Amino acid sequence: MSIWAVVVAAGRGERAALGKNKVLHTIGGVTVLGRCLRALHKSALLDGVVLVLAAQDADAYQSLCAKEGRSSLVKRIVHGGLTRQESVLHGLRALPEDAEIVAIHDAARPFVTADILRRSIELARATGSGVACTDVVDTIKQMEADGRVTTLDRSRLRAAQTPQTFRTAEILQAYARAEAEGWKATDDADLYERRFGRITLFTAPDSPGNVKLTTKEDFMRLEGNPFRIGSGFDTHRLVEDRPLVLCGVTVPSALGLDGHSDADVAVHALMDAILGALGEGDIGRHFPDSDAEYRGISSMLLLARVMRLAAERGFQVVNADVTIVAQKPKLAPYIERMRLNLAEALGVPPDCANVKATTTERMGYEGRGEGISAQACVLLTKGRG
Ligand code: CTP
Ligand code: MG
Repeated sequence: MSIWAVVVAAGRGERAALGKNKVLHTIGGVTVLGRCLRALHKSALLDGVVLVLAAQDADAYQSLCAKEGRSSLVKRIVHGGLTRQESVLHGLRALPEDAEIVAIHDAARPFVTADILRRSIELARATGSGVACTDVVDTIKQMEADGRVTTLDRSRLRAAQTPQTFRTAEILQAYARAEAEGWKATDDADLYERRFGRITLFTAPDSPGNVKLTTKEDFMRLEGNPFRIGSGFDTHRLVEDRPLVLCGVTVPSALGLDGHSDADVAVHALMDAILGALGEGDIGRHFPDSDAEYRGISSMLLLARVMRLAAERGFQVVNADVTIVAQKPKLAPYIERMRLNLAEALGVPPDCANVKATTTERMGYEGRGEGISAQACVLLTKGRG
């Protein structure tokens, strides 16, 4: 006597519109299907899995196994059908004879927990069926044919999930009857209920998390934290015969900053902060000073390139804060222009770009007027849409 699962993964994922079967899409480095199989394996409740796959996904499944490891729980793989119902039937027919209980599970629900699976198995053993459900949080309106709208009693509604677990012999009978009578259903419980006139539903503490990934938005919500933080630091030597450019503003000064580009130390720190937030190294890697293209170039132009890189990765700036450490000249008269320059370059409102200047009370290299340093930090967010 053994407990098996039929995992259906043979859909097209049309509503998710990811350009491939959604269960082969990767979230945080692991595919939805891979996560689902891991969750089932971790539960240690199953003797085997029949995996139902579309023929065209066979290669993708092999490369998934190569990258993520082959699940030893998957004992059989069968081809899916045109509908979920057909795919489940193919899976059920591939079960071994001693599979007393079968948990039918959508690969598109990778967050199933051991507790949910255990409850569904226990109920199937005791009553014939155990169907995972969740309470309904929205008020549901039913549109009648004559245009009237009925509001359903939310406290009596349940949204069916998977696993839907059954005594194997009984669910096979239900599927056979469905085939004979032409019943169509979007879940297994419907067919079982029609055949046997009873069904056992349950909700568990984990039920709200056992979501089915259906739309693009479902996937976007899972794409990790949308915020990235970065910090930057730079320092340049003060020399004669060079302009002093800070945040794109030329500040009147006897000495200017030495460097390959215009040596705008504040913008360099800011670019490093953005690249840091993107996990993209530093400006030395992107704009090497061995490259003649960058000789004397305005750092504001380089900042625009860094912003393009951020945009290509789908990120935008939330806010940035820059501190310039200089003993002299006095920067206060120029700070507001610097701030507006940065706000424009970063595409943020003026209050989301901040520039401040400080001295070091004549201590250290900045205090002795040998150089100017700058620090920056920035918060990026992944733009939606
Ligand atoms: N499924 C299947 N065979 C089908 C259709 C669906 O095995 N012919 C599987 C899906 O892979 C999924 C589960 O059934 O794990 C639930 O279906 P659904 O969420 O509708 O997934 P898709 O059919 O892939 O998505 P869509 O309806 O948006 O195309
Ligand atoms: Mg579907």
